Amino acid sequence: MKIAFIGDIVGRPGRDMIKNYLPKLKEEHNIDFVIANYENASHGFGLTLKNCNELFSYGIDVMSGGNHSWDKKDIIPLFETHEILRPHNYPEGVEGTGCKVYDVAGEKLAVLNLMGHYSMPYTDNAFRCAQTNVERLHSEGVANIFIDFHAEATSEKRAMMMLLQGSVSGIIGTHTHVSTDDFQIVKGTAYLTDIGLSGCRDNVIGMDSKQPLKQFLTGMKGHFDIPKKCKKILQIAVLTIENGGCKSAYKLKIFDDSRVIQSDAWLDD
Ligand code: FE2
Repeated sequence: MKIAFIGDIVGRPGRDMIKNYLPKLKEEHNIDFVIANYENASHGFGLTLKNCNELFSYGIDVMSGGNHSWDKKDIIPLFETHEILRPHNYPEGVEGTGCKVYDVAGEKLAVLNLMGHYSMPYTDNAFRCAQTNVERLHSEGVANIFIDFHAEATSEKRAMMMLLQGSVSGIIGTHTHVSTDDFQIVKGTAYLTDIGLSGCRDNVIGMDSKQPLKQFLTGMKGHFDIPKKCKKILQIAVLTIENGGCKSAYKLKIFDDSRVIQSDAWLDD
């Protein structure tokens, strides 16, 4: 199966890039299934019902979340009505789930959404949650497993890869909005510390730079906004998976002036 992953979609600029490029990309790259992170999709914070329906209409199959999953009140019913996840290591009793299994190209694919610990809300241990659920999925005969690990610290993401290499198909990080240059396949596990945002590329993590600059210059906090006009980017990873292992993977950076930069994941044993 060939799956694609898009990280943090930030506001309307991010949604516009999905609208303008995803349907064509799915066709050109023979993509069977698309996973994307919604947590910043509605004006940078959370997800509304309207934007949820809009994003699914462009060809996304399931959306994962993070610490901003809860920022719009629409989210709670969406866990029941749409293919919407939130980090699985939120404690028992919290609405929603972060792990679901889908039928993709005649096989099972599990999507597991986890959240790290550094500079994040208090949750159950992401690493133990990952271990327990990967073991459970294997015992249920699910070999193809993709993880969106939503975390601030690069070390946590790298450690997750060391823990799970050889037992899952892919681990790609989200949350920092800044892409890293370490796409690799180790023991059949595709790994990228952070895929980076889809949205404005010429401000500060997809947000209008005025408030972040004011905050850094004065120490005074304020509301972050999405720029009215900006240069945009769509960042998408494409993974070919066979029998639970990732055989090849590449990332595309698509600019709104139609430039495309492709980088292949390097292969390690
Ligand atoms: Fe986040």
